[in-house]
Amino acid sequence: MSDQRPRVLVARAVFSETVERLRAHFEVEDNPDDVLFTKDQLTGRLRGKAGAFTTGSERVDAQVLDANPQLRVVANMAVGYNNLDIEAFNARGVLATNTPDVLTETTADFGFALMMAAARRMAESEHYLRRGEWTRWRYDMFTGSDVHGATLGILGMGRIGQAIARRGALGFSMRVVYHNRSRLDPALEAPLGARWVDKATLLREADHLVLVLPYSAQSHHAIGAAELALMKPTATLTNVARGGIVDDAALAQALRERRIAAAALDVFEGEPAVHPGLLEVPNVVLTPHIASATVATRRRMAELAADNLIAALTGGTPPTPVNPQVLR
Ligand code: 8YV
Repeated sequence: MSDQRPRVLVARAVFSETVERLRAHFEVEDNPDDVLFTKDQLTGRLRGKAGAFTTGSERVDAQVLDANPQLRVVANMAVGYNNLDIEAFNARGVLATNTPDVLTETTADFGFALMMAAARRMAESEHYLRRGEWTRWRYDMFTGSDVHGATLGILGMGRIGQAIARRGALGFSMRVVYHNRSRLDPALEAPLGARWVDKATLLREADHLVLVLPYSAQSHHAIGAAELALMKPTATLTNVARGGIVDDAALAQALRERRIAAAALDVFEGEPAVHPGLLEVPNVVLTPHIASATVATRRRMAELAADNLIAALTGGTPPTPVNPQVLR
């Protein structure tokens, strides 16, 4: 007798417990070999599926949805959902869900660590040591800039931005300036001493600028040559948001010409490819999109994505829908 339960696709390898949990509710097609599906393959794999468990690497757009009109929900194991065309989802009444909150503190830890690594030249000096070039102490060897007491600039003051601001203000006595479409409630600003400024002021005042805004057509190349030119030559730039928010070619050039002191990037335009200019300059810390990568947090993200998928297909209330209007 064939399985009458809803069919779902788990598009990437994920914790076996998560897959087992989904198997208790659904007929599951998983991907334990972690094959990266092309768009055509993904479209084909989704045939007959009511739900999909995706990560930020799978793009689901109007074409994919039109080829799969039976698809009711896509549960993305990421807080960012720029891989999902939400307008196309809305137009077709398909639910999208994401994984906010569970990764906020972990991602803020990593953003802060990257910012410190750039300010204190950790990667650059480690490479020097590994190359066997360290032969003696020198008064100005790898001198960087202080983090404590400096001005922390945050572009995009959502949950993760606020968590980074807390670390800076409360742990490192930093002055916090931020730019966001909307100002925070004064009750949230006050304990951090956080000050809303326009974008140009943010770029001019920040000693350490951290990007934590979602990617969209509006935020594409929010930091390019013109913005980098406004920054202090001693400043650092950290991106834990999304590739494409920074013009990587312009950043590589600014780093090469020391128009800013250093950068730290966890995300890249066209990743996993990295702009060759960034690989050539020493004053940049590069990590492979791992800001949320702790075992505990990745488990929480997978569980929340599964919670959403199960609720959406079994008559429950998905805890973190992106487009709840399609539920009505
Ligand atoms: C994920 C992320 O690792 O949540 C996000 O938006 O960028 C990361 O936490 C990645 O998107 C995998 O889905």
